[in-house]
Amino acid sequence: MLVFAIETSCDETSVCIMDNNKNIYSHIIFSQEIHKQHGGVVPELASRAHLEILQKITKQAFEESGKIFADIDVFAATCGPGLIGPLLIGSTFAKSLAIGSNKPFVPINHIESHILSPTFNNEVKYPHICLLLTGGHTEIYLVESKNKIMLLGETLDDAIGETFDKVGKLLNLKYPGGPEIEKRALAGNEKSYDLPTPLLNKNNLNFSFSGLKTAVNQIVKKNNLNDDFVANLSASFQFCVSEILLGKIKKTLKKLEGQSLTINSLSVVGGVSNNKYIAGKIKDFFENKNIKILLPVKNMMSDNAAMIAWNCINKNLNSSKDIFFKANPRLTIK
Ligand code: KG4
Ligand code: ZN
Repeated sequence: MLVFAIETSCDETSVCIMDNNKNIYSHIIFSQEIHKQHGGVVPELASRAHLEILQKITKQAFEESGKIFADIDVFAATCGPGLIGPLLIGSTFAKSLAIGSNKPFVPINHIESHILSPTFNNEVKYPHICLLLTGGHTEIYLVESKNKIMLLGETLDDAIGETFDKVGKLLNLKYPGGPEIEKRALAGNEKSYDLPTPLLNKNNLNFSFSGLKTAVNQIVKKNNLNDDFVANLSASFQFCVSEILLGKIKKTLKKLEGQSLTINSLSVVGGVSNNKYIAGKIKDFFENKNIKILLPVKNMMSDNAAMIAWNCINKNLNSSKDIFFKANPRLTIK
């Protein structure tokens, strides 16, 4: 089965041609540059850029793969959650190709695709827990099987990636702030600033990051933004974020142990899983503790169409094809 998949939920325009033996014939990820000058994603500009870029990279994907439209068995696209304009563009584009080729269209959930992304390159045992760290979501899931994914905890305010981006803006760094903070933190001392860890000691699995962002803002107002200051605050921020994540992972494991569930692995997915410091902290903590840390392959961490194609390949085509499925900015996992 050959799938052509599209991802356009936010500011990455991406297409992928993949078969059910995991062969990737083409995978193109285009990160829209236009948002950098605005310090964040502007939905209307994202929609316009998707429309333009999608046509170009689709042509490029078919050229470099040596495939033609008639070779494709299924067309898939992200239908939510995400920005409605970008979702409509990607899904309508894929539906049009499906109708034109007389082939099925499969709507795909973006979050479910992040959660399933480590199953592409890892031997995954169920049940496991998944820490989903993106620009719009910070969630912990119990993954009992590919079709049984249960939300255990989530952020009550800002998402983790959003917090990285907002802190990056406060520190006058380029958008997106996440990778920039990681770079600057390398030269800093993580013990320089004692930052708050909201909800860490509460007996639930939810997160809160807006207080941390406010604390960073207050420190920024009292200091000069020189290189040393930015490095030290970046390092302290990353340290604080990793403490929050580790604390909630430990609570999750304890809670599940109490329900007699044995968990052998933890996956960390989404854009923030690119952060080597955070992934390293989690890996170090679980070394010798019988919990395997699973990460997706590099080009399936940030938004990408390969995880959309892979999710589609794992579905039952007969029950999931739906040309009438409406893009939904708040789509949830069933
Ligand atoms: O999963 P993703 O590509 O898009 C969403 O579904 O939201 O995640 C994007 C987020 C951005 O907030 C970006 O700053 C963050 O992932 N990110 C990082 C790193 N690389 C990307 N955050 C921290 N460290 C990184 N190296
Ligand atoms: Zn994403």
